[in-house]
Amino acid sequence: SSNNFVRIFEVGPRDGLQNEKIVVPTPIKVEFVNRLNRTGLKAIEVTSFVSPKWVPQMSDHVEVLAGIERVPGVCYSALTPNVQGINKVVSLGDKGVDEVAIFSAASETFSKKNINCSIETSLQRFDEVMKVARQKNLPVRGYVSCVVGCPYEGKISPAQVVPVVQKLLEMGCYEISLGDTIGVGTPKSIGELLQALNSSGVPSAKLAIHCHDTYGQAIANIAKALDMGIRCVDSSVAGLGGCPYAKGATGNVATEDVIYLLHGLGYETGVDLDQLIDAGDFIMNFLKRQNKSKVAQALLCK
Ligand code: HMG
Ligand code: MG
Repeated sequence: SSNNFVRIFEVGPRDGLQNEKIVVPTPIKVEFVNRLNRTGLKAIEVTSFVSPKWVPQMSDHVEVLAGIERVPGVCYSALTPNVQGINKVVSLGDKGVDEVAIFSAASETFSKKNINCSIETSLQRFDEVMKVARQKNLPVRGYVSCVVGCPYEGKISPAQVVPVVQKLLEMGCYEISLGDTIGVGTPKSIGELLQALNSSGVPSAKLAIHCHDTYGQAIANIAKALDMGIRCVDSSVAGLGGCPYAKGATGNVATEDVIYLLHGLGYETGVDLDQLIDAGDFIMNFLKRQNKSKVAQALLCK
């Protein structure tokens, strides 16, 4: 693939909706994904296989996956933090997903709050997940949360992130998504992190950037990451989202804004901005909230 192509990893249906207080009915989630299907996006994170007591919004994972249209060439994925999760996915056969994701953190306290165990224990659990994934030929993506800052521990240094990234790659993840879970990064801290990973021998082709826009820095941070060779960006249409275990963290960077940035910089994405705005508008109309994408706001009132 050309070095000019940026893969957009759409996390709206998962990261976007997981924190919504009102339960979004399954048919709305299905229609949301079906609209995203028509945008040219090549990767959609649909749901997660986590405890329904911890994240009730994602408890209809089986029904959502059964309901959505499958567009050839689109990769559908879901979070699976443990063997119970991946076994359930596998049992769904072709109503399952094309790839799964495991998620760790660079902060011990966040790991405990998010998945109820230490980083070390989480990596041991992921080993079992990887074993099942290998047997079933399922690619596994890895997330590392709190790569520059943690809601409980404050500043996080690159030295805390690098070993977790390396371990997840050694375990067999095809790519690691670097999560600025609470959106505190700036181009300086993101640049220092990517520099440290590069110096430790982690190729940029194995990395993705996952920005939340809490402090309005996401677009600047993504531009920095692109300059440093990153070619995969996680985003959420309409800027939906937040993490239940990161109080005050707002949504992910809006996919519409990322597409506008990328096309403006001359990158290719294969994503149609108008269709994307339609998908974002659909879910925001349901939620009765203003679209958080600046680009969507600007184009919708034209
Ligand atoms: P636990 O309580 O330590 O585990 O939870 P457990 O094995 O003792 O299980 C407790 C109960 O959960 C049991 O049910 C299990 O059956 C059930 P009970 O016997 O009490 O009725 N359970 C499950 N049910 C369905 N699917 C499963 C599953 N596993 C256990 N896979 C666990 C450990 C990880 C499950 C829990 O802590 C959890 O679900 N946490 C939620 C994590 C989550 O979804 N966080 C948000 C996503 S991460 C994120 O947003 C960050 C990211 O976007 C990047 C960034 O921004 O930084 C990725
Ligand atoms: Mg996130």
